[in-house]
Amino acid sequence: MGLLHYLAHSIPLRHFIENKLFRPARSFKKLTAAASFDQSLHALAHQDAAAYAYEHFKAAAYFQSKKELYDFLIAKISPVNGLLLECGVYKADTLNYFAGKLNSRQWHGFDSFEGLPEDWGGGEKGKGAFSLGGKLPSVKRNVQLQPGWFEHTVAPFLHNQQQPVAFIHLDADLYSATKTVLEASTPYLQAGTLLLFDEYFGQIGWREGEHKAFAEWLPGSGYQATCLAYAANGAVLWQLQK
Ligand SMILES: C[S@@+](CC[C@H](N)C(=O)[O-])C[C@H]1O[C@@H](n2cnc3c(N)ncnc32)[C@H](O)[C@@H]1O
Repeated sequence: MGLLHYLAHSIPLRHFIENKLFRPARSFKKLTAAASFDQSLHALAHQDAAAYAYEHFKAAAYFQSKKELYDFLIAKISPVNGLLLECGVYKADTLNYFAGKLNSRQWHGFDSFEGLPEDWGGGEKGKGAFSLGGKLPSVKRNVQLQPGWFEHTVAPFLHNQQQPVAFIHLDADLYSATKTVLEASTPYLQAGTLLLFDEYFGQIGWREGEHKAFAEWLPGSGYQATCLAYAANGAVLWQLQK
């Protein structure tokens, strides 16, 4: 049997070529195609958000990072009297940051600490993402946590406090949770209340999330809103007026 005959008919050789050369090459092609599709989706979502910001946020401050936006925010909160809330606490990174910066005031954090109640963002984060299994994170001394689902905690808490709301950090990602918080807090908002949305725009599907909840809620709220600032990675700060 000649070498050429062997090469053409050898089963081990054919297996070797299929498994070690062709199959990895096909997988690699699929992976690169998926990565390029993924990249295109993200680029389109970013372009859509940038066009939206360019059209609607002409007078607002623009920051490249959330951290710069947070420092701008703290200066804006200081003169506004009332309650300081975060809805969507997880490990309290942002809440502790805010509470550390404005440590003369009490902060209140709301979270199930059991993660998202439903899938978010086209499967990007599934139900249960961010769960701490109900365990509360450690927080600064000027922070109080209100564990539970927003639909059961926000309205009763505000009713008991009987104070206006100065600030809400809406960081629950989901359309439904954001809408719940906005609706539950409406009677306690005031001209001057600041609303910071963490995932307002820029991610795939952003028009169906926090943005949609706010856009649907605002016309019936009795308030108008001005965008004070926004950050490249999706956070948007609004201030309410009568
Ligand atoms: C993106 S994480 C918050 C991130 C946080 N601010 C940080 O500094 O990392 C979103 C949180 O919202 C909470 N959440 C979402 N929907 C909720 C709801 N309806 N009621 C209570 N908590 C909810 C989740 O449990 C999760 O911890």
